[in-house]
Amino acid sequence: METVKAIRQDDYGRGLVDQEDKICFVEGLLPDEEAIIQVDQEKKNYRLAHVVKLLRESDQRVMPNCPYASTCGGCQLLHQDYVSQLRFKKNKVEHILSKFAKIDLLPDQISIISSSPFHYRNKITLHGKDGKLGLKEAKSNQIVPIQKCAICEDAINRMIPSLQKLQEHTKGITSIMIRTFENQVMIALSGNIKEDILQEFYQANKVTSFYYNGLKLFGEDTISVPLHQLVFRCSAKSFFQVNTQNQQKLYDLVLDVIEKKKPTRLLDLYCGTGTMTLLASIYAKEVIGIEVVPEAIQDAKKNQQINKIQNVSFICGRVEDFIKQFQQVDLVIVDPPRSGLDHLTRQSLLSIKPDTICYVSCDPITLARDLAELKEQYEIEKFTLVDMFPNTYHVECVALLCLKNTLKAFEK
Ligand SMILES: C[S@@+](CC[C@H](N)C(=O)[O-])C[C@H]1O[C@@H](n2cnc3c(N)ncnc32)[C@H](O)[C@@H]1O
Repeated sequence: METVKAIRQDDYGRGLVDQEDKICFVEGLLPDEEAIIQVDQEKKNYRLAHVVKLLRESDQRVMPNCPYASTCGGCQLLHQDYVSQLRFKKNKVEHILSKFAKIDLLPDQISIISSSPFHYRNKITLHGKDGKLGLKEAKSNQIVPIQKCAICEDAINRMIPSLQKLQEHTKGITSIMIRTFENQVMIALSGNIKEDILQEFYQANKVTSFYYNGLKLFGEDTISVPLHQLVFRCSAKSFFQVNTQNQQKLYDLVLDVIEKKKPTRLLDLYCGTGTMTLLASIYAKEVIGIEVVPEAIQDAKKNQQINKIQNVSFICGRVEDFIKQFQQVDLVIVDPPRSGLDHLTRQSLLSIKPDTICYVSCDPITLARDLAELKEQYEIEKFTLVDMFPNTYHVECVALLCLKNTLKAFEK
């Protein structure tokens, strides 16, 4: 055991300590805090440690607003006040862009949009084993049973105690996804429970849509979410943004660009249920959405139908397999999963040369890797962080990229 002082936070929110021979990452230690630590793992170039006794507290430290903060691995920053969390995320992204893409943003190029720090999530996945139901411990498969989650919406928290009783009684849940919008609740349960018990649960808890082992068992196929002037339906296997409040703000950023640009042909890559594709269709002549999950494309086509939109088409498949067939595109939205764009997609974008690329990313490290290649031909016009995931180290980024020789023309 030894006494240390954290100089700053690393990209995962841990305290970074310079120990001369190596650096040490200390779980839960904030910048300038001093503590007695215990080393848990000795690696070749660094150490991992936890706090045994805090000797000097930072004024960024707050009491975690969650009874499971010390065991549950879901949130890493519950002990840090929200304003400091936002500053941490902005510094982290600037640092990653500079280190991995050699891009140094000017202060007026980057900004951050905040969120309500609690009760913002419209979706949770709980894991079940040996009669337990809960979230997983950090870096472990151990389950932390929970009765509520501080970052989830109330409609989710109202459902958890009944699910705990169901699990106590049946021990049959292996995992369960709960998704909600206003009073609608969707449940997708995997496991082994008799159908009459599930039916009783479904009726007693007024569930809107109930899936069991991948198939719809009771109620509606989808829940519906109004966004701007349209309505979107979403089924259990489709991606949908988890922070309803900031989903609107995220889409507004992208739509502002499209409204100004009024593209003739727009590609929405990794389009999910077609939310941005259909919202963008108002400002573009033709919009094409590409998405790999068949259920999401089914939802997207249904959304096109119910919103009576003509100038949109959807392709079900991998972006990297279809992007090559498009030329003459003036605007591309990309919103890939954490792995970012693959090499083929980056190369295709550089060969299509759309005037504008709106890159929405949930992982700044893969974003930086992709920007390092795209910056050959593109300049960053604006970079916005949207805090979709308060109390965790994650943050969403929106980078507006303009083809180098058209940048000036676009500004006019
Ligand atoms: C971050 S989500 C974005 C969804 C959508 N833009 C939205 O706002 O709801 C990423 C989406 O990419 C899809 N996806 C993942 N890999 C893909 C690939 N190689 N080609 C096409 N879609 C992919 C996922 O199924 C998911 O729906």
